[in-house]
Amino acid sequence: MSDLNHPEIKHWTAVDNFLAALCGDEDTALKAARQDNEAAGLPPFDLSVAQGQFIHVLVKILQPKRILELGTLGAYSTIWMARALPAGGRIITLEFNPHHAAIAQKNLERAGVADRVDLRLGAALDTLPILESEGVSPFDLVFIDADKGNYRSYLQWAIRLGRPGTAIIADNVVRDGVVMNPASPDPDVQGIRRMFEIMKDEPRLSTSILQTVGSKGHDGFVLAVVLG
Ligand code: DHB
Ligand code: MG
Repeated sequence: MSDLNHPEIKHWTAVDNFLAALCGDEDTALKAARQDNEAAGLPPFDLSVAQGQFIHVLVKILQPKRILELGTLGAYSTIWMARALPAGGRIITLEFNPHHAAIAQKNLERAGVADRVDLRLGAALDTLPILESEGVSPFDLVFIDADKGNYRSYLQWAIRLGRPGTAIIADNVVRDGVVMNPASPDPDVQGIRRMFEIMKDEPRLSTSILQTVGSKGHDGFVLAVVLG
């Protein structure tokens, strides 16, 4: 993960908090989800409030009828997206860890969005072919936020289950800039680099990558769109 002891983190967090307070509120159910995730010992990988606001606005712009999320964790990001869905919109979210999924389901119910969210327990690489056979695709937005070692496969699945115009986000792809280092021993970095290798020459994608700083350290995300 990115270094949360970075010397600038206090400053970045203060600015994050200042900026987030200028935008749409984190409501009580979102706050409770974040607090319960921490209390339940989930890893500290929830989106920041500012990132939640960002993905909420993005969903309002895109008005996706179907969202696919890889990596539910405690459903903090799921709730931000669900709150922005158009009428009839649905999210399928995939989680490997049963403990995370149980906490996530409670958070979704408390937030009043469980009717719009289908949480599937299991390894995403097992669930994705099932989704394909069920015919629930194409997805309009795919949010990749799961184990970094499989990011290349997840990107390929996102394209496969998408359509021209599908937006793809992949979280945590900068990692303090360590992604620049081809010799990094970090398996997560190597997983992201394997995704990068196919991204550049993928004719079905138009891709951007933004680095970010904030309360989550120095990191960044891919925002790509599937082409016709
Ligand atoms: C990690 C994963 C995340 O999804 C995140 O937002 C931050 C860090 C990680 O695996 O290190
Ligand atoms: Mg993440």
